[in-house]
Amino acid sequence: MDAGLAAAFDPPGFHRAAEQCTLRLRRYLDDPEIKGLDLVEPAVLMKAARELMTAERDDVAGYDEGRFHQIMDLYLNTGIQVHSPGYLGRQFSGVVPLAGLVDLVSSVANQPSSFYEAGQLPNVAERLMAEELGRFLGWDGERSAMVTTSGGSMANLTALLAARNRAFPGIWSRGVAEEGGRPAIAISEDAHYSVSRAAGVLGIGEEHIVRLPVDECGRIRVGAVAPILDAAEQRGLRVFCLVASSGTTAMGAFDPLDELAALTRPRGIWLHVDGAHGASLLLSERHRERLRGIAEVDSLTWDAHKMLFVPAPCTLLFYRDGSAAAGAFRQRASYVFDEEPDVYSALDSGDKNLECTKRPMIMPLWTLWSMYGPALFTRKIDHLCAMTVQAHRMLAAEPDFTVLHEPEANILCFRFTPEGLDDADLHALQLAIRNRLRADGRFFISKVHIGGVAALRVVLMNHKITAEHLDLLITEIRTTGSRVLREGAAAGGREDGSQR
Ligand SMILES: Cc1ncc(COP(=O)(O)O)c(C=O)c1O
Repeated sequence: MDAGLAAAFDPPGFHRAAEQCTLRLRRYLDDPEIKGLDLVEPAVLMKAARELMTAERDDVAGYDEGRFHQIMDLYLNTGIQVHSPGYLGRQFSGVVPLAGLVDLVSSVANQPSSFYEAGQLPNVAERLMAEELGRFLGWDGERSAMVTTSGGSMANLTALLAARNRAFPGIWSRGVAEEGGRPAIAISEDAHYSVSRAAGVLGIGEEHIVRLPVDECGRIRVGAVAPILDAAEQRGLRVFCLVASSGTTAMGAFDPLDELAALTRPRGIWLHVDGAHGASLLLSERHRERLRGIAEVDSLTWDAHKMLFVPAPCTLLFYRDGSAAAGAFRQRASYVFDEEPDVYSALDSGDKNLECTKRPMIMPLWTLWSMYGPALFTRKIDHLCAMTVQAHRMLAAEPDFTVLHEPEANILCFRFTPEGLDDADLHALQLAIRNRLRADGRFFISKVHIGGVAALRVVLMNHKITAEHLDLLITEIRTTGSRVLREGAAAGGREDGSQR
């Protein structure tokens, strides 16, 4: 056999490299520094990465320990530092490290999970997690179903497809034009962009998206929903699905599911909940009330790679009526789908998810659940929500900050608001602060526009964040904001490039 080929697959060589790798990761996890992101110019990173590529083109290059070290360093150093308390910006988290090891096993053993025969344990683990997490939904476990999908966007798309196929069974074969009718969906003004994107993908059309207004906290105004649905019907639209959010991306707001279900049920409208961010609060006795009414909804998107702290992607899509899951896709393909399902293929999900080859994404979640039990998740969720309340309290006590809402979960939006600035100035100031903070590399926070004016946004995903870190962040924002104002006044311009 080719010696180079043999060496690349050599088990002892793999073991040595894995030891190096976990040692490096241990240093990474142990790093006490407060770090956000070292933002590197793409051209510089491209050059550094290119230099790490072997020049060998004829033979299989031999394993170069130094090169592997450098690749790992470059990878870890240029990422958002999700395990540092400086990371408060996005909704993916520093994972429970053991989950990473399970992912390593998945990567080496490579057991794609859309079909039982290819990924036996992943498929069984999916059923077990459907049972375990399904208990928190209050649905009939015999009737409901769950599939994993590669991310919340894909789950939202899949649920909308299942809802559309139920309401318009002919579209799958005859297409939208022939089926007639004008399929429409109703979504919150604050819905994640993946929902309107799904409408585009499904051929529903932007103009057939019925927007539901939200209150100052970002929740759908229930009182406005019935008249809007009636008006849509009068325009000839047939709203087949209403998408609510359990944890909006912008402010972490939870729509009132019980009240929305009372409106959609009599109209035969499918109620889908985008709980990509907030469904995990169901696990917490303290916070599950936010999803009151979940037992009444038709489907739920739940990202485990957000508030269940496993590697991305890992999304669970639940259907209250399992037969609806089978309605999403209707392909025949003799090379994978059996006409007569047997005890093995009964566990296949290939006919219910878009992916053919699907990562066994359930494995880290099932392993953590098996090893540590649910308290691992509830403790962390409760802690993060409590720290967000603390952040709210601290910011509200600062005279030159304005907090924009009471936190419902672990997302909080606010502005640095020194006196004498109009909305346009405030907008430019928040953007400049966010960009400077990111460039300085210590804290990584995000921004969002609320009421047309930019706001700063923190997402607390790291249980190592303390009140001292929040204090440091507040000070850094104030110092940075004041510097931006001084320099802006001196230069007479705006850092974000906007014009007055
Ligand atoms: C409410 C909500 N829905 C959907 C998504 C998309 O999920 P994913 O990034 O897993 O595709 C997000 C992502 O941030 C989200 O916050």
